[in-house]
Amino acid sequence: MTTELKAGEFKAGQFRAAGLIGWPVFQSRSPKLHGYWLEKYAIPGAYVPMPVAPGRLEDALRGLVALGFAGCNVTLPHKEAAAKLVDRVDPAGRRMGAINLIVVEPDGSLSGYNKDGYGFIENLRDGKPGWRGDAGPAVVLGAGGGARSVVVSLLDEGAPEIRLLNRTRARAEQLAAEFGGPVTVLDWERRHAALAGAALLVNTTNQGMVGQPPLDLALDALPTAALVCDIVYNPLETPLLAAARGRGNAVVNGLGMLLHQARPAFQAWFGVLPEITPELRAAIEATIK
Ligand SMILES: NC(=O)c1ccc[n+]([C@@H]2O[C@H](COP(=O)([O-])OP(=O)(O)OC[C@H]3O[C@@H](n4cnc5c(N)ncnc54)[C@H](OP(=O)(O)O)[C@@H]3O)[C@@H](O)[C@H]2O)c1
Repeated sequence: MTTELKAGEFKAGQFRAAGLIGWPVFQSRSPKLHGYWLEKYAIPGAYVPMPVAPGRLEDALRGLVALGFAGCNVTLPHKEAAAKLVDRVDPAGRRMGAINLIVVEPDGSLSGYNKDGYGFIENLRDGKPGWRGDAGPAVVLGAGGGARSVVVSLLDEGAPEIRLLNRTRARAEQLAAEFGGPVTVLDWERRHAALAGAALLVNTTNQGMVGQPPLDLALDALPTAALVCDIVYNPLETPLLAAARGRGNAVVNGLGMLLHQARPAFQAWFGVLPEITPELRAAIEATIK
């Protein structure tokens, strides 16, 4: 990663560019987010959306070097393919088989990282200061791309037990077999009862996001001391979070995960570890409401 510089230390001629590779990509909030930080820290640079069709990823990644880019983020559907194309991958990316951050090194080689799990954990700590992964059992609903980073990062944080439930049980079983550790797969029909004694509940399904029905989940068995997190961030307050808040659970929405994974990326390309301020949150929230 680039050595940290103080804001304002950049001189003319030190313009740096980064961006987001995905397909589609123009719906992303990342350009607004990184653009906000570039302006705030007076860094001469740009962060641009880069639509790259499936099949063109390798050309696009090598093009970053030719264009003098500092690196890029990678989103759907390229996260797994990118992990195979870069020259080296960090331990988190290797475990997940997917990366979301690429840094162009001075010698023109490409380093890949996965910061989604980091973003997820930092978001929990932000939402509930003092939160600990080893505090008790976690229930994770879903077994798609989002669930991979959630499960890996909870295991890394020392979760004593992860109850994993997915509508398609085979996908949860595949994930549990891949990651090992104290992951127990339960039938989707058991999701209501599985909440008993949990310290953390995480929704990683798409249920509750805009255009989808609310997650069908009865919270009665969930201790009120449990932290409830929805990685869905559109809407900011999903029906699940509203119901959990209403019965006294602490809740964390998905926006912070997006914001936190972006901090080490910005630092790697532009040299400053940026802050997540209330003003920044409000600016990004305004694009969701
Ligand atoms: N906050 C963040 O930074 C962040 C990061 C990643 C993702 N997300 C959000 O997380 C959500 C999931 O994303 P993803 O990339 O993990 O998607 P994905 O890979 O497509 O996985 C979708 C998940 O939702 C489940 N699902 C779909 N329809 C369902 C239904 N009717 N009932 C129960 N489960 C259902 C799927 O189960 P099956 O396996 O049975 O199909 C699967 O587990 C999206 O809203 C996304 O925006 C947020």
